[in-house]
Amino acid sequence: MPSNLSGTASTTQSILQETLQQHITQSRKRTLDLFKEVNADIFRLQANPDFSPVGWHLGHIGFTEGLWLLEQEAGHAPLFPEYRRLFAADGLAKTERQNLPPFEEICDYLEQIRTKVEAYLPRAPLRSQAWLWYWLVQHESQHCETITWVLQLHHLHQQAAVSWTPPPINGPLPSPPKVPVQITSLSTLDMIHIEGGKFLRGNNQLDALDNEKQAHWAHVDSFWMDRYPVTQGAYRQFMEAGGYQKSHYWSNDGWQWLQNNPVDHPFHWDLNKGEHHPVCGVSWYEADAYARFAGKRLPTEIEWEKAASGHPGSGDALAHPSPQAPRYYPWGEESLTADHCNHGGLRWGTTTVDQFSKGKSAYGCYDLLGNVWEWTDTWFHAYDGFQPYPYPGYSMAYFDDQHRVLKGGSWATQSPVLRCAFRNWYEPRIRIHFAGFRCAYG
Ligand code: AVJ
Ligand code: FE
Repeated sequence: MPSNLSGTASTTQSILQETLQQHITQSRKRTLDLFKEVNADIFRLQANPDFSPVGWHLGHIGFTEGLWLLEQEAGHAPLFPEYRRLFAADGLAKTERQNLPPFEEICDYLEQIRTKVEAYLPRAPLRSQAWLWYWLVQHESQHCETITWVLQLHHLHQQAAVSWTPPPINGPLPSPPKVPVQITSLSTLDMIHIEGGKFLRGNNQLDALDNEKQAHWAHVDSFWMDRYPVTQGAYRQFMEAGGYQKSHYWSNDGWQWLQNNPVDHPFHWDLNKGEHHPVCGVSWYEADAYARFAGKRLPTEIEWEKAASGHPGSGDALAHPSPQAPRYYPWGEESLTADHCNHGGLRWGTTTVDQFSKGKSAYGCYDLLGNVWEWTDTWFHAYDGFQPYPYPGYSMAYFDDQHRVLKGGSWATQSPVLRCAFRNWYEPRIRIHFAGFRCAYG
């Protein structure tokens, strides 16, 4: 993330150039690594009507880079104009994106674009344009996470096809194996008091996306926040108390959703991992129902952000560089490493919610970044002074009271989008993105 970008104009240009070159190289390596195990079928198959095939994401990453840097900024003619319809975000419906060129051809397309982009970088006006490069790196990072998700879906489908055995024609169905249950020591009562006051939220740095701006002071009343994301062990109590059968735990919309999508456990549910892993693969409706069951509620986005980047006693602190200024990461400004949180697909799955004491926030909350995205109670909307960039369809199209904000990133989230201010959004019905939650009270 961009910190000390002061200095003369020319040092800034060369620091930016070097930093951005590193970012684009690293993010491309991460993208291509994801394709190592992908065969030609998986490459073009749609795993779920809500998500495009992984091969489409790959082409779309290249198309987006070429469009914004080469066509819009450097003034080049489009490379492979015949790809526009296929790979533009607004070209084809998700269900029509399976007819793809082979992997090698798309890789070649990406490489040709990248060669031109790297030739453009040294002469690009980075002081005014860095935000676009940061946007592109974050765009690729977010598509990487979606690719990871789609690969997981394919994997689950394959497992189901292999392990499925037809029920016996006579006699009772076998009952599901009983998982030995440990007593949970991460108490559901373990909450942290966070005092009210004014709080500076949002992000005005070079990596800020349109929806994080403008950073602004806002008032938060005091509240309580769960120290950990809700664990499978805690959620099991909801399931065993008939949580999925009793309408009074659910919002009206949530109950309606459940009737139309009869389920009785999260999409990802694996007690073999252990009770102290976070719940993941829940819709917003399930998160909300659990919170009611527990006598709590989902936090608002600003509560979540204050728990993550605020300090005890920082009530009315002044802006940077005060020691009381909001933190970029929950643990402060120290660069993100694999010891701070579970991210970037490094562990390819969730970890216990109390593993990363190094990643604690100033208030002592664990796992705010990484492990699982956390649903909040807040509808995705613009902050004051919002200006869409690089195009209105990026954020503005979703300020529609149909999308809830998720915070914090998951085990699959790449480092460029891990920060307290980052905002993700999905429809409440979507059970994806390695999404879990924690609760608030008060
Ligand atoms: C913010 C993750 C919901 O993947 O649909 C990628 C990000 N926008 N390309 C998405 C995004 C345009 C977006 N999410
Ligand atoms: Fe995109």
